[in-house]
Amino acid sequence: MRVHHIGYAVMDIEKTSAVFEKLGYAGGAIAEDELRKVRIRFLRNGSECVELVAPLAEDAPIKTTLKNMRGATPYHICYCTGDIEAECLTLRKLGWVQTEKPAPAPAIGGRKVVFLYHKDAGLIELVED
Ligand code: NI
Repeated sequence: MRVHHIGYAVMDIEKTSAVFEKLGYAGGAIAEDELRKVRIRFLRNGSECVELVAPLAEDAPIKTTLKNMRGATPYHICYCTGDIEAECLTLRKLGWVQTEKPAPAPAIGGRKVVFLYHKDAGLIELVED
């Protein structure tokens, strides 16, 4: 599967954006995802893409990652897939645990995304093409 982006948990999108811009990345608009309680900004550098994910509320789940890692950290790699339901089924058979049903993500044009976890490989995201 092709990599779509690397997701970073960050406390402050503006501060982290400034750091990535010095590395050659250019950012788009900041989107708010009320369902997941996060603010999101994608930044591109040629064919590379990073996603900055910051808490939108005090009880945002992303805060657990920030707390455990003591600050900004990469925490998922997102892969593109043609059929998200079929890919989830395949990955579940390979030992991945699906954390939720695929759901539209406003920060990525309403395309469906889903997160899966594997104890030996960590967290990945799938985004439907
Ligand atoms: Ni992501």
